[in-house]
Amino acid sequence: MTRARRLAALDLGTTKACCAIADVDSDGLRVLGFGQSPSRGVRKGAIVDIERAAEAVAEAVDATERMSGLPVDAVVVGIAGGHLASQNSRGVVAVPAGHREVRHGDITRAVEAARAVSVPSDREIVHVLPQQFTIDGQDGVRDAIGMIGTRLEVDTHIITGSTTAIQNVVKVMHTAGLDVEDLVLQVLASARAVTTEDEIERGVAVVDVGGGTTDVAVFGAGSVLHTGVVPVGGNHVTGDLAVGLRSDLETAEAVKRANGHSLQLTIPAEATVTLTPMGYEEPVAVPQRYLAEVIGPRAREMAVLIDTEISRSGAAARLPGGVVMCGGGALLRGFAEIVQQVTDLPVRVAAPPVAHGMDEGVRGPEHATLVGLMLWGDKRGGSRTFARTNGHGGNGHTMSTRFGRWLRELF
Ligand SMILES: Nc1ncnc2c1ncn2[C@@H]1O[C@H](COP(=O)(O)OP(=O)(O)OP(=O)(O)O)[C@@H](O)[C@H]1O
Ligand SMILES: [Mg+2]
Repeated sequence: MTRARRLAALDLGTTKACCAIADVDSDGLRVLGFGQSPSRGVRKGAIVDIERAAEAVAEAVDATERMSGLPVDAVVVGIAGGHLASQNSRGVVAVPAGHREVRHGDITRAVEAARAVSVPSDREIVHVLPQQFTIDGQDGVRDAIGMIGTRLEVDTHIITGSTTAIQNVVKVMHTAGLDVEDLVLQVLASARAVTTEDEIERGVAVVDVGGGTTDVAVFGAGSVLHTGVVPVGGNHVTGDLAVGLRSDLETAEAVKRANGHSLQLTIPAEATVTLTPMGYEEPVAVPQRYLAEVIGPRAREMAVLIDTEISRSGAAARLPGGVVMCGGGALLRGFAEIVQQVTDLPVRVAAPPVAHGMDEGVRGPEHATLVGLMLWGDKRGGSRTFARTNGHGGNGHTMSTRFGRWLRELF
């Protein structure tokens, strides 16, 4: 057993900000403290109000410090939002004639060559995720080190984000008194928490249904094939329900969680829910089937968009691991069934694997990102740091291309 590493993570979502501190070792996580607060200042995954977002973060951190009795000074942070984009890029280098055997340095140079894609000056690279190597025309090489060859190529999946949007995330953390240990794409963190290496190897799609967006990542052959965002999440379901019930959002949210369903026919005709619509004096009984009549079409629309996004990977037919759903929105009753019907893939709703410690708070699928950030942070070993003292936010050039064994160990 390796010595445990203490790590804290922060997931600033559209609906909630949450923080946890844990000891991480090869056996997994031991959660020492957890805190959550309603999110503010975030829209569709991106920061729109630094002060308010920092307040929400500070609340979640305070609660975590109180529960654990430990200070939280530096965090692994998730990033998301429409400003993120991904592309595939290939790097090619010659293996020096002197050794002809691929060494670490050759791989680093190949990945650097792949990174040298033209990224507009207002964007920076967040992740460079190697997919496969080709040596002297032979593709599909997984572990290139030690192979004999003269020409080394690497295919990578590169994720870029708007520099200002990323700096705003860093600034929120600094304003809340935190150093940023690393930045990780939220859906990759979620995937880290809810899938196995075997599924990543064989092919699987991870769908994180959040409040404002639904994030999709498709994996195969041990690496990331595709990442994308569907701009619809659980809050749209709540919004539809508020219109349909003529209620405020708070009531609609409560009704959705307690009795919402995406499939009408599974609900007994006589089942009702009691609420007081706006402008009514007295509560009325609303058939639960009516809730499903409102929710069903939105759930189906989301499922179709998810299916389209999975298809963009070109690997939809090769996903024996099926679809793994997480995020709070995945808790909507009947939704997984609809995603199963539309994608024609096996679907499961997954929660993060926290087996011990003070983990009650982080057991649901809505905490997949938070737990995944801690697992990811452990693997990356804090390879890039955004200290509060460096004056500005992230610096693309210091970002490491290192990633966990979970996405194939290269370095
Ligand atoms: N029991 C439940 N049934 C149905 N929906 C639920 C349930 N619990 C939470 N949700 C929905 O999950 C959504 C929030 O999910 P989550 O906490 O994963 O979002 P987030 O991480 O804050 O947002 P994002 O990832 O989009 O930035 C909300 O729309 C909420 O209504
Ligand atoms: Mg989220």
